[in-house]
Amino acid sequence: MCGISGAVGLKNISELLFEGIRNLEYRGYDSCGVALINKSRLLIKKDIGGVEEFYRKHNVLQHKSKIGIAHTRWATHGKVTQENTHPFTSRDGNFAVVHNGIISNYRPLKAQLQKEGFKFSSETDTEVLAHLLEKFYKRSRNVEKAFLKMLNLIEGTYAIALISSYLPEQIFCAKKESPLMLGIGDEIKFVGSDFNAFIDHTKNAVILDDGEYAILSRDTYVVKDLLSKEEVTKPITKIEWDSETSKKGGYPHYMLKEIYEQPQTISNALDLEESGLDEIVDLFAESENSYLLGVGTTFYVAKYAKYVFSKLAQEFFPSISSDEFMALAIVNKESLFFCASQSGETFDTLSALKHAKLKGARTAAVVNVMGSSIARLVDKVVLQGSGPEICVISTKAALSQMVVLTVLAMKLALKKKVITRKIYNQHLQSLRELPEIIQGILNERSGFIHRLAHKYSGTRNWLYLGRGVYYPIALESALKMKEVAYVHAEGMPGGFLKHGTLAMIDDDVSSIVFVPPPEDKVLYEATMHSVEEIRARSGFVLGIHFTEQGKNSDLYSEELILPKVPPLTAPLIQLVIGQLFAYFTATSLKRNIDKPRSLAKSVTVA
Ligand code: BG6
Repeated sequence: MCGISGAVGLKNISELLFEGIRNLEYRGYDSCGVALINKSRLLIKKDIGGVEEFYRKHNVLQHKSKIGIAHTRWATHGKVTQENTHPFTSRDGNFAVVHNGIISNYRPLKAQLQKEGFKFSSETDTEVLAHLLEKFYKRSRNVEKAFLKMLNLIEGTYAIALISSYLPEQIFCAKKESPLMLGIGDEIKFVGSDFNAFIDHTKNAVILDDGEYAILSRDTYVVKDLLSKEEVTKPITKIEWDSETSKKGGYPHYMLKEIYEQPQTISNALDLEESGLDEIVDLFAESENSYLLGVGTTFYVAKYAKYVFSKLAQEFFPSISSDEFMALAIVNKESLFFCASQSGETFDTLSALKHAKLKGARTAAVVNVMGSSIARLVDKVVLQGSGPEICVISTKAALSQMVVLTVLAMKLALKKKVITRKIYNQHLQSLRELPEIIQGILNERSGFIHRLAHKYSGTRNWLYLGRGVYYPIALESALKMKEVAYVHAEGMPGGFLKHGTLAMIDDDVSSIVFVPPPEDKVLYEATMHSVEEIRARSGFVLGIHFTEQGKNSDLYSEELILPKVPPLTAPLIQLVIGQLFAYFTATSLKRNIDKPRSLAKSVTVA
């Protein structure tokens, strides 16, 4: 997906626009561009590469303006080239437009425009918007009418911002499925893909809904319904985050900062208001079939929750990757659709949610971003309170969601009388001890993990093995390694190894095994079989385990011994190791940690 930022004010806004689009870079950073209006003339600058590099290379800040829009792109249609970079301008140079989403009917629109003599300079879907605006303006001589005519013609998903030399003090914007919100400042108004576009300048946001458009000028704004063209009264959403928490705070990378924030975010998750959780537990209890969804990391959060609900509450809730939901799930009004989403804007999860709602299902979610589309669409939402997660790679948000889901499973078990209040309180105490234990590991073990990761940073293929609830931990840890270090890592259930994958074990395939505490007897012994199978073929095994016994080189090539913890929280500790191992491998390989190639923080397109 992409980032949109726009501002119109009393004074020069170039610097604010730069900050806004830089704060949105985690949404996509293949290329970026800016459109400014000066003395009623449109100025366009755009190029491939990141925001800082672009602004420096083109000395963009030399151009003063009181109105502008900017865009940072994650390529969907068309390669990463200067021509495919937003903003796009009309042929007559009077309109500049930026867009996040996919115009699904752009091909016939483009063909018709070409027939009418319009020349295209890009492979993108977005460019049709600029030419349609010029075409319709010629008929109506009215920007708003041209804007509406264009919006009513296009299909698909969009967040659009537009400026025109015909109305040099107004920004037009519109939303359908892709996120877009306004920032309401004194004598300055902003538009952005999310709060980060203007969080440094105002905490008053107006979140646009699908089918709404807005017209901003420095001292006023109006939101209208696209169909009725009637003005819509919208509430002001107060942003709770402060801009400092969105900064790196002295860490070399957001990823490390957010890993180190986990003790705090787990505490936040454990301090969530009880009644909100109880209402969701009631939904699980009332529903005949419940589904757990997410995609990418949040799919592994859902998979982790499947094991926890099964083990604690004796309930089997299938976990499904959001993109597979419609092909797989049988949904009706007795169903519960529960999803995890950091951004609350992921297209695949949002689409699955809308499908579930269409079928009459109850819906709930655990989400990190307040005011996000998923948070506002579900019947019940848990705002997990992890604070802004800027790194494209999810760490603290995912771990906090796992804690929230563990508490939900404990509450459901208690409600069903599968566990006593005493056991519930013991589990809660174990969770409450987790922040300190993780803090200890971060303080005392990260150096060792760093050295280990550096030593083996040349490994090109990893198998990540886990049994039971450690299987999603293995999957998520392997995903970290792929995402941030670009190293192949395959997460796998430990028992699966002997059914084929064992054939791969040789000098250039190493294994990491997430070993449960010995008191988790069945899982521990089953996991040790996997270790033995690999060692019997002289395969390299890094054992991450809890056994006090000293170095056991018969068993492990390398090992990392963790402090003793109850079986309930052991998998969560293991995940922190998986996060750190991937992070330090990536720093050894000099990767772009917070903005890995080809990725985006939340993919809001199909
Ligand atoms: C991917 C992100 O694009 O989307 C992952 O790179 C994330 O980090 C996944 O897990 C799902 O995003 P969200 O916001 O729905 O949790």
